[in-house]
Amino acid sequence: MEEENYILSRPVDFAELKDYLFSPANVFLTYSSGKKTKLIKASGVINEEYLKKFNSSKKRIEIETIANISNVEQFNELFKIYQNAKTEREKIIGRNSILTLFSSIYWKGANGGSLLDLVISCEKSFLKFDMDAIEELRNFGEDFFIRSSLMASLGLVLCMSLGYLDKIFLEDVYHLFFVLDYGLNNNISYNITEALKKDRLQVGAGKSFLSSNSNRIEMSLFNKHPLLGVKKSLNKFAVFFNQKDILNFIKIHHERICGQGFPMGIGQDEMNDLEQVIVFLSHLVPIKEYDFSRTDGQGYLKETCEKLEDRNNILGKSIENILLNIFENMPTWDEYIGKEIA
Ligand SMILES: [Fe+2]
Repeated sequence: MEEENYILSRPVDFAELKDYLFSPANVFLTYSSGKKTKLIKASGVINEEYLKKFNSSKKRIEIETIANISNVEQFNELFKIYQNAKTEREKIIGRNSILTLFSSIYWKGANGGSLLDLVISCEKSFLKFDMDAIEELRNFGEDFFIRSSLMASLGLVLCMSLGYLDKIFLEDVYHLFFVLDYGLNNNISYNITEALKKDRLQVGAGKSFLSSNSNRIEMSLFNKHPLLGVKKSLNKFAVFFNQKDILNFIKIHHERICGQGFPMGIGQDEMNDLEQVIVFLSHLVPIKEYDFSRTDGQGYLKETCEKLEDRNNILGKSIENILLNIFENMPTWDEYIGKEIA
C-alpha cells in the first residue's frame, strides 16, 4: 500500500480546525453502529458555525489528518522569511529555500507529503480575500475554489522559480488563479462543467462536446468566458489586486502552446512566462474531482508531467526549463539543511 510507509507528523485536533480555511483533515461523525458520515473533507472550507454544532458531541467526532503539519509549518516559516526579506539577496536566499523544499517533496519525492500541505501554507501566507469574496467564490463552486487554491499555490512557486521575486506581484499571481473561471459565474451548468473537463484533457474536446450535447447559449458562454472573466473579476475582486492589469491574464487560460486553444488561438511564441504558467496549470489540475491524500504530493509534479498525454500542447519551454534545469538539479531538503548547518 502507498500509505504503509507514511509517518503522520502529528494529528490535528478538533479545537484546531477553526484556525484553518482549508481543512487539514477529513472529519467524520461516528455512530455506535460503526457507521460514519463525513462532515468535512480534507481541503473543504471550514465554517466555524458548522463546527460549533458538533462541539457538544466531541466523542462522536473522528478526525483523519491528511496534511503533514510539519511540512505546513516548515513552508509557513520559509514564506515568512521570504516575505520579511529586505534586500534582493535575502529574497533570493528565501526563494531558494522554498524551491528546495518544494522540489524535494513535489518533484524528487525525497520527502513525503500531501499537496494539501502547500495549499494550506500558501493560503495562510498569501490569501487576502475577505470573507465576502471567499463566500462569492465558494458559491460559484466549492470544488472550483479548492482546485483554484491548488493552481494558485503551484503557480506561485512556479513564478518564483522563473525568477519573479516581487512580493506584490507574486501575491497578485496567487489571487489570479482563483478567478480564472469567474466569467462563468451564475452560468455554470452540468454541460459546461463536462466541457471544461474534456477540454482540459484534449484540445477542442470542450467545444465538440457542447456542439453535440448542448445549445448555442452554453456554447457562447463557454467560448466567451475567458474574456467575460476579466470584466466580471474587475467588477467584483479588483480591490484585492495590487495591479489590476494582471486580471487581463484570465484571457489566456484556455489557450494552448500549439496555438489551438481559445478564444484567441495564440501559441507559445506569443506567450510570456506567466502565460505559460497559467496555460500549464489550467490543464494540469483536474476540474472538480480532486481528493487530497496523505501521500499525493510525493513526486507529484514529476510523475504528473511524465504522464501528460497532451504534453506538447501544455508544457511550454519556460516551464520545461524550470522542471528539468531547476527542480531536477536542486539538492533534497535534507541535503540542503545539512549544507546550511555545516
Ligand atoms: Fe475556463
